[in-house]
Parts: sequence; structure tokens; C-alpha cells
Amino acid sequence: MARVRPASRHFRKGSCVGLLALLLASAHAFVHAQLGGCLSRSQTQTRASSRREVLALLPLAEALHAGSAEALDSALRGQKVVVLGGSGFVGRRICQRLVAEGAQVTSISRTGGPPSKVGDWASSVAWKRKDVLTADLVPEMTGAGAVISAIGSIGSADDEQGNGATNEAAVAAAAKAGVKRFVLVSASKDVGEAGVDAIFGPYVKGKQRAEAAVKGRFSDSSLVLQPSFIYGGDEFSATPPRVAGWYGEKVENLLATELFRAVASASPAFLRLALSPPLAVDDVAKAAVAGAAGRATGTLESHDAILAAR
Ligand SMILES: NC(=O)c1ccc[n+]([C@@H]2O[C@H](COP(=O)([O-])OP(=O)(O)OC[C@H]3O[C@@H](n4cnc5c(N)ncnc54)[C@H](OP(=O)(O)O)[C@@H]3O)[C@@H](O)[C@H]2O)c1
Repeated sequence: MARVRPASRHFRKGSCVGLLALLLASAHAFVHAQLGGCLSRSQTQTRASSRREVLALLPLAEALHAGSAEALDSALRGQKVVVLGGSGFVGRRICQRLVAEGAQVTSISRTGGPPSKVGDWASSVAWKRKDVLTADLVPEMTGAGAVISAIGSIGSADDEQGNGATNEAAVAAAAKAGVKRFVLVSASKDVGEAGVDAIFGPYVKGKQRAEAAVKGRFSDSSLVLQPSFIYGGDEFSATPPRVAGWYGEKVENLLATELFRAVASASPAFLRLALSPPLAVDDVAKAAVAGAAGRATGTLESHDAILAAR
């Protein structure tokens, strides 16, 4: 009889997390389809050609976006900001936004960076290759006005360490370096209440440890974001769980209606999580940057609170 190799445990766990995340995305999709949101073939073709047009305009949009830095609040202009996990899905948008606000940006991740297929803004970022759990980050953080952590792991061999111990190390280094503000991209409390401890238990515990560390050292000068699902970019995937921007936006708009909010608020935690409006990755990035600039503080638990902080 074939035996399951130990190495596959991690894979199975990752698959479970991916499947659960896709389940949440599917719940979104189901709701969307029931209300007649399914796209017909012709609509799909139209969408594909409009998508090509939009993609062709991206360099222009990016230039305009960078140019709009003049109009943005300049609290971060010239200020050093360190982004932990700046090469990731959320982190890279945080770096891009910081560049647009005129900050001096350093990104730290184990693979370094810059990530592939990003714009010219990436050349303005200092991409550093370090493990936040083990490296001495004090020299990197010294002189920084803010540290933003977009570090996390889901479905890894040790999610409590990936989310908890790693962010604890980051917070300790930032405090030692005299950093003024700390921003943490955490996750919705509903994940912990959804009754899926067997899979998400270590993830939830890690997030709780990270938040406690931030509150302990940066009580009045921190921002903690607790988004549910974050969508964006061009791709769908199960591991890591990703939903493309064009689709996520439709789901967000639908689930943000009064009807769905009423159903969600009367539902058990798992369904409430599935029905809570997801957030666009650029909106999460803007809220995180608002925290770095001191324009937002505290813990933002809801979709609306995170949008309001942008
Ligand atoms: N995506 C969502 O739907 C969602 C929803 C709610 C909350 N969140 C939270 O939002 C945050 C960002 O999520 P994401 O989707 O952007 O994740 P991601 O794409 O996996 O990015 C994580 C980043 O952290 C870096 N990292 C991880 N461990 C590290 C370590 N020990 N030292 C240095 N860098 C490390 C990764 O780079 P390396 O691997 O190269 O080190 C990567 O740059 C996470 O805290 C996540 O839990 C995400």
C-alpha cells in the first residue's frame, strides 16, 4: 500500500488552505451568479478586448499616478519608510504608493526583489534580502519614520511563527531603532471565530501575537489593519489564494450592498467571513501608507473603516 510521505503534510495543509480560500471566493462567486452577474460569452470577449486596452494604457496611468505625488499629502516626502514583505502581493503596492508620496523606501524580504512585472517606480526602492525572523534589522530601521509589516504566511509549515514570531522580531527591532510609527497588515478576527481552527489555528494565533506586540510597543503610534479577503492584479489562484481585480471589484460592490450586509450580520462567523466585502489591494496599501504618515491610527476592523483611512 502506498504510504503518504511526511513532506506531503505541508502540501496537504497548503492545499486545504487554498481550497478553503477558494471556497470563500466561490461563496462570493455563487452569490454573484445568483443575482445575474454571470458574464455571457460576448461580455467575456468584450471584457478581454477592454482589458487589452486598459493594459496598453497602464504605463500612462503609472506615469500619471507617479506625477500625482505633487498633489498628495507630503508628510512622507523625503522620509525613510521600511516595508517588511515589500516584494509580496500587498507589500509591493505599499512600496509603490510610498514612492508616489515621495518617501525613501526600503523593502525587506527573504527573496529580496524587485518582483517581476512591476513598473519603473520599483527602481526607486532599495530591495534588501533578509529574513526578518533572524536578521539584525536595527541598522536598516534606524532613521526610519515608519515601518510597515506586510509579512505573513498561510498554509506554511509553521504559520504561528510566520505571522507571530516574525512580526514580534520586527516590532522589537523597530522599537530599538527608535522608529516613530508601526503599521501591521493583519487579518479579520472573523477568521478566528469561523470554526476552522484545525487549519487556521496557528495563523490566527500568529496574528494575535503580532497585534499584541505592536500594541505593546507602539500603543499610540500604530495602525493595525484587519482585512478579510484582499483581491487585485490579473490572476486567479488557489495557492496563494488570489482573485483578479476585475472580478473582485464586482464581488466587493455586491457584498457591500445593504442586503448582503444585513444577511452577513445575522450569519454565523464562517458565512459572515464569506459574505464580508473583500478589499482591493490598492485600497489596503493606501490605508497602510496613511498609517505610516500618521493620518490613521488604531485598529481598523471593518471593510468600511479601512476604506475610510485611505
Ligand atoms: N492576501 C489576502 O487576501 C490577505 C487577507 C487578509 C490578510 N492578509 C495579510 O496581509 C499580509 C500580506 O499578505 P500578502 O497576500 O501580500 O502575502 P504575500 O504575497 O505572501 O507576501 C508576504 C511577504 O512577506 C515576505 N516574508 C514572509 N516571511 C518573511 C520573513 N521571515 N522575512 C522577510 N520577509 C518575509 C515575503 O517574501 P519572501 O517569501 O521572499 O520572504 C513576501 O514579500 C499578510 O500578513 C497576510 O496575512 C492577506
